[in-house]
Amino acid sequence: MTSEFLKDLNDHEHSWQSVSYSRKPDGTVMAEVGSVISPEGPRQMFWMLDSVMYAMPEGTDPDANHMPHEHRYGYETFFVDSGKMWLYIDGMKCLVEKGDILHLQATQIHGMAFIEDVKYRGTYHDLATDPDGPAIANVLAHMPELKDDPELMKMMPVKGGLDHINRERLLFREVPAEQCPAVRNPKRPLAEFRLEGVTMKILTQRWENAGANELCCAEMQPGFTAEWVKYPKNRELLYVRKGRVKFRVFKDEFIAHDECIVAIPKFAPHSLEALTEAEVYDLGGLTFWYSFLHDYMSIKTYDPERFAAPGTIQALKEKFNCQIKSIGMKR
Ligand SMILES: [Fe+2]
Repeated sequence: MTSEFLKDLNDHEHSWQSVSYSRKPDGTVMAEVGSVISPEGPRQMFWMLDSVMYAMPEGTDPDANHMPHEHRYGYETFFVDSGKMWLYIDGMKCLVEKGDILHLQATQIHGMAFIEDVKYRGTYHDLATDPDGPAIANVLAHMPELKDDPELMKMMPVKGGLDHINRERLLFREVPAEQCPAVRNPKRPLAEFRLEGVTMKILTQRWENAGANELCCAEMQPGFTAEWVKYPKNRELLYVRKGRVKFRVFKDEFIAHDECIVAIPKFAPHSLEALTEAEVYDLGGLTFWYSFLHDYMSIKTYDPERFAAPGTIQALKEKFNCQIKSIGMKR
């Protein structure tokens, strides 16, 4: 069952728009990088890359080979969907495994060394804040040989690369992943809210993303349904990391399964139904989920009369840009 809105990340031929390779100076391929969604708008939102990071060769010392760097403007959120790696960040080193999520903020020095091959799926925003960034990337896509042209490089947002600044080898102490704030996991969300058929888990906050977006995971029970308003105002990017979820977008019906992206255009009528237990992430993150769910629960707890009054929840949805009309269990 295929659809133009469905991208199975394990089907590179169909889900990757293009592929590039990052190599060591000796030519060895370190990573295969697939472009899934191109950046959109002035803050370069919705950008998604799907990389296969290859394990470092045997005998490599990760503490001396972890590609230390920072981004002056950009924010990165990565899903680690297979394997094991070391993350070095802000004076810490920790072991990161399948199921973890990394949130790397602007100017945080970070590096990584891959113990096993890792499916490393990232979304970004603000990574190239210069409005000419995408235009320069387009020139390089058409004429990669210009990457060494000093005249073109002068026009880059940050000299020498698109917001990628090499740093020195990290100083660190080793800590468990639970003690490293950059490592997130739905097992230990920042906050969680239980609704009928779904638990909403906040994994990155808006203030950790320079206000651009946030990351919320919906853990759905089988039979959970959600219907959006007729013409939703948000462009939507959902990641079904686990489970099977039936979607309807316009007139297309399709099933998204483990490791599928569902990319829904703005104003497209859509709905979903979980066919099994499912873990679905709102990657676009335009809804103010934490604020909405907090105030929803607050009114429900402290002012049940107001909660039941007509218009209360609708006003809350408008205030926090929630474009969902209704949720519930399939009857
Ligand atoms: Fe980075």
